[in-house]
Amino acid sequence: MNDMIAIGCDHGGYELKQDIMKFLEKSGYEYKDFGTYSAESCDYPDYAKQVAYAVADGECEKGILICGTGIGVSIAANKVKGIRAALVHDCFSAKATREHNDANVLTMGARVIGPGLAEEIVKIFLETPFSNDERHIRRISKIED
Ligand code: RB5
Repeated sequence: MNDMIAIGCDHGGYELKQDIMKFLEKSGYEYKDFGTYSAESCDYPDYAKQVAYAVADGECEKGILICGTGIGVSIAANKVKGIRAALVHDCFSAKATREHNDANVLTMGARVIGPGLAEEIVKIFLETPFSNDERHIRRISKIED
């Protein structure tokens, strides 16, 4: 199974992305960094789209996107067919969005939460399987219609 993680950010998420990449390395996850590669001002859709296409095309299994609020990257990623990007800032939602929504992209705001909580959220998001319950499969298929 391809378990490569796509990761991306804008300037607002750059520092937190560095922390999350260190955390992924330490935890034994393979990832591909789609940028941005510095704290210089840039446009979040450029990076959100790259991560979203990598997941939608099957190059990567899941994605992580970080901007200042997590909102811009979430809106942009969700425009790509097949992407279910979830903006998450708490552990309960990280678990629920995997179990119920089979979310394939996690988005977070670096101006909203700190690295400790963000790492916990990433861990839960990556470790929690989809429930495969019939009702959740049905609801997800209605999104794709
Ligand atoms: C950049 O200032 C900020 O607008 C961006 O990181 C993000 O929060 C947009 O949703």
